[in-house]
Amino acid sequence: MRHLIDPTDLSLQEIDEILDLAEDIIQHREKYAEACKGKKLATLFYEPSTRTRLSFEAAMLELGGSVLGFSSADASSAAKGESVADTARTVSKYADIIAMRHPKEGAPLVASQHVNIPVINAGDGGHNHPTQTLTDLLTIKQTKGRLNNLTVGFCGDLKFGRTVHSLIKQLSCYENIRFILISPQELQVPDYIKEETLLKKNIPFEEVTEMEPVIGQLDILYMTRVQRERFFNEADYIRLKDTYILNLAKLANAKPDLKILHPLPRVNEIATEVDSDPRAVYFDQVEYGKFVRMALMLKLLGLENNTK
Ligand code: CP
Repeated sequence: MRHLIDPTDLSLQEIDEILDLAEDIIQHREKYAEACKGKKLATLFYEPSTRTRLSFEAAMLELGGSVLGFSSADASSAAKGESVADTARTVSKYADIIAMRHPKEGAPLVASQHVNIPVINAGDGGHNHPTQTLTDLLTIKQTKGRLNNLTVGFCGDLKFGRTVHSLIKQLSCYENIRFILISPQELQVPDYIKEETLLKKNIPFEEVTEMEPVIGQLDILYMTRVQRERFFNEADYIRLKDTYILNLAKLANAKPDLKILHPLPRVNEIATEVDSDPRAVYFDQVEYGKFVRMALMLKLLGLENNTK
């Protein structure tokens, strides 16, 4: 039984296979139209989501399967005090695969320990968001043509941004990657990511507080939202929320082939005038998320060869 709880649950080879499969799905969608016929995905979302939940559901529907689930804890028996383990055990009687988002770190891991169907972590607290990482990797591969030899800038809330933590870990597995980490002092990448990934693997990185002096060095600029829901103090959120607002003026010195990613939702951190710049790929990224989740579910269900 395979689950995806942490990005490191997949080997580099498996990740490359998932990305290759997603690219084959993009090229030959009709081949996969019935690959999950008769299968059911349960989306158990204890925390709000637009892209992740709906892309999982769209992915299963495009594979010919069905979906069930809930989109908030209040709409489930969690509101009556049911544990994650009991809910997962119950849902495993109705579905073939689970995608779970939960505000508590480790909740999808707990679910995976109580069921005999694959569980996919669709975001747990400030910890990990491995399917966003797969989405980001596919977006970079599709738009830059490679996953190595890149200078990658992460900008914004690098402390609470779980997509940042997952992507740093994963990109660190590819050759000749360098990171520029742009954030206020209070929102720097946590020490454990630096110690366990960057320093341990000797990955070059620098931490800066301003975007403009470094933007010209970047191949990828990964913007993030300041995560209001993870702050203990509203005053700190208000002070920090608009630290970086990417606009066309700030892109003046950026490379012409820079790619701008954002896991979305956006609040203020990218001006809408940037949306029509060819370097902005964050809405393409949304669609790549659906394709990569199709590929992931096929792999976890062992159905990748169940094609027309
Ligand atoms: N990127 C992402 O996780 O978006 P949602 O919160 O809308 O799922």
